[in-house]
Amino acid sequence: MELKEKIQELKQQIEDFKAKTVEDVEVFRIKFIGSKNQIKDLYKELKAVPLESKKEFGQLINGLKSFAEEKFLFLKQAVGTISQSSNKKQIDFSRPAEEISLGARHPLAIVKNEIIDIFKRIGFVVSEGPEVEDDWHNFSALNFPPEHPARDMQDTFFIEKSDDGDRTNEIALRTHTSSVQVRVMENSTPPIRTISPGRVYRNEAISARAHCFFHQVEGLYIDTDVSFADLKQTLLYFAREMFGEKANIRLRPSYFPFTEPSAEVDVSCTICNAKGCNVCKYTGWLEILGCGMVDPNVLKSANIDPDKYSGFAFGMGIERIAQLKFRVGDLRLYSENDIRFLKQFKSAY
Ligand code: PHE
Repeated sequence: MELKEKIQELKQQIEDFKAKTVEDVEVFRIKFIGSKNQIKDLYKELKAVPLESKKEFGQLINGLKSFAEEKFLFLKQAVGTISQSSNKKQIDFSRPAEEISLGARHPLAIVKNEIIDIFKRIGFVVSEGPEVEDDWHNFSALNFPPEHPARDMQDTFFIEKSDDGDRTNEIALRTHTSSVQVRVMENSTPPIRTISPGRVYRNEAISARAHCFFHQVEGLYIDTDVSFADLKQTLLYFAREMFGEKANIRLRPSYFPFTEPSAEVDVSCTICNAKGCNVCKYTGWLEILGCGMVDPNVLKSANIDPDKYSGFAFGMGIERIAQLKFRVGDLRLYSENDIRFLKQFKSAY
């Protein structure tokens, strides 16, 4: 074949070459661009061409070479866009998504919200107050006389303490959220139906069963003709909403300075169905809260007429209810923030 024809033939091949894949482009490269490409062979044949035609053929072969190079660039680009779009097609839409780990609510928040929800349904509103509290709201207005031993029951953390027995300037971390209810009584007129959730502090050594802070929800209901029967029925309603409709309660006489009469309330053990287990210490009952009829002295302190109004109050520890609901007995777990503990709680609340 004449050199001219060979050039023509290769030109045609280059022009006709179609590439669909990266592999096709590589075939083109080896054939026309690579170190042993076919155009190179033509240069060898140039030696045999008569002198007067050398220039013409040289230019033809050079033209072929740049034609091949241009085509190579074009093919590379074209296949690049194809393989990009075919990559897209290869996305596997059935592949499960990577898990997004959602935070969980703290177990104490779950229980607190559930308690609030139960009392909201019967008309109680939430009230909150300061954790650093004066003597009046934490003790004196609640009928704790200045030297009354009941103050010792509360293991108070004092911020300001007087040596001379004058309590009026004493400041402490609140030992219960009854302090919030004094504030509510002072600032509103009956009927009052309120619950006060919040953190409280007591100076106790930290162990599985005691902590220097914990959480309470306390309730207060004041109106005309509020009776002990109302209190009992309200607590039975709460126990059944919280622990199931089979739950029962029993009241044992007790003492609090701010209520008279006072009682401690047990709920039938939900763990063994009151048959007896190590959680209820084989009694079938679990203590869950303190309660009583608001002492007339407390009403007087808040400028509410005890001859016209009566009321009941109750208070419970959120940790205690959480212990029964989630069977988590060690109080320390609630404040250690161990993610393995926290992530086990999923809730609608
Ligand atoms: N304030 C009491 C406590 O912290 C609980 C309580 C509230 C008892 C209301 C009776 C009535 O222990």
